[in-house]
Amino acid sequence: MDKKLQIGLFGFGTVGQGIYRVIEKAPNAHAEIRRICVRDITRHRSAPARLFTDQAADILDDPDTDLIVEVIDNAEASFSIVSEALRRGIPVVSGNKAMIARHLPELIELQKLNNTALLYDASSCGSIPVIRNLEEYYDNDLLLEVKGILNGSSNYILSRVFDHGESYSDALAKAQALGFAESDPTFDIEGFDSLFKLVIITVHALGVYVNPDQIFTYGISTIHDSDIRYAREKGVKIKLVAQVAKVGKGKFTMFVMPEFVRPGKYIYSVDDEYNGVVIRGECYDRQFMFGKGAGALPTASSILSDIMARRHDYRYEYKKMHYLDRPAYTADIDLRIYVRYSSTPVPDLLPFRSIREQYISEESCYVIGDINLEDLRANRDLLSAPDVFVANTSGFFEDLD
Ligand code: HSE
Repeated sequence: MDKKLQIGLFGFGTVGQGIYRVIEKAPNAHAEIRRICVRDITRHRSAPARLFTDQAADILDDPDTDLIVEVIDNAEASFSIVSEALRRGIPVVSGNKAMIARHLPELIELQKLNNTALLYDASSCGSIPVIRNLEEYYDNDLLLEVKGILNGSSNYILSRVFDHGESYSDALAKAQALGFAESDPTFDIEGFDSLFKLVIITVHALGVYVNPDQIFTYGISTIHDSDIRYAREKGVKIKLVAQVAKVGKGKFTMFVMPEFVRPGKYIYSVDDEYNGVVIRGECYDRQFMFGKGAGALPTASSILSDIMARRHDYRYEYKKMHYLDRPAYTADIDLRIYVRYSSTPVPDLLPFRSIREQYISEESCYVIGDINLEDLRANRDLLSAPDVFVANTSGFFEDLD
């Protein structure tokens, strides 16, 4: 057999350590970690000291590096390593969703110019092979929607709070201790991690890149007992959902926000750190992918799959980005949302098209109404008030997803 694939690994945090362990379990990968670049070389590590360096050049300049695996958690440092590797023609496997979502157009260009590959299935939904499936299988006009729970930590927190009556802060601390959360967990709970994954998914689903700053994103940090009580009374669960969907001719929309999910929906049963992705299309209706979305080994298993794919020279072709007839992004759609508030006068400030239901009490109030997504986006700051929580009531494509 050929010589072992020599891997230069950047990052030895939760996922980096997972990769080290997973490669040991996978003799058929015929791969070995040659060097590991970390920020602080003095820390004790669970791998032989001779492997570690704090100099990126020790990996990038090494002519025997066949492949770079990058799993550091600083998006800008990650971009500089990944772009430099691609410029040198070294293929890269990365799990860095923030970096990829922010720089994908440039990274696609770099792959083309330097005839090399960047694979990143691990960036979206941990162990679920969502990117490669969207890229390779759903290559047609039939795809209508990709929707799901893309963040393990927030889903874990919601499950612990909703099903086990734990406090939000205890649940968050556990998500951190279990290695699900980002080093800055704001990314998880404010919906940005889901947003970055959604941006990447949309490139492979519809062939269109949308800058993350253009997308309405709302997380779970202001959820309150009264929201949980309301959801329980209605027999639904609150899930943080990311969604991209075609809407009308030649248009699609996308957003991230909590949703009241009814029993019977596939994602209703997606609990703890699991992720679930519903792919809906003409002719085949709905398909559902389910699996662990966070944690060292699930994410490392996806990295391993990309490493194996590189053994066969696999690369994304971004075929859909070259189609003449690509849908255009719009936020001009109406959603029916629930907004809970206490001191912020939400019904006076948010430009609802119509109000369907309103409840006022001393402790907390809520309103359910129809609103344009553009208006929600324009009023994003108002919705950040600590007494406000927003959830989609899933009036959008209600019986389809
Ligand atoms: N923090 C992320 C999550 C890790 O909780 O889903 C996996 O991307």
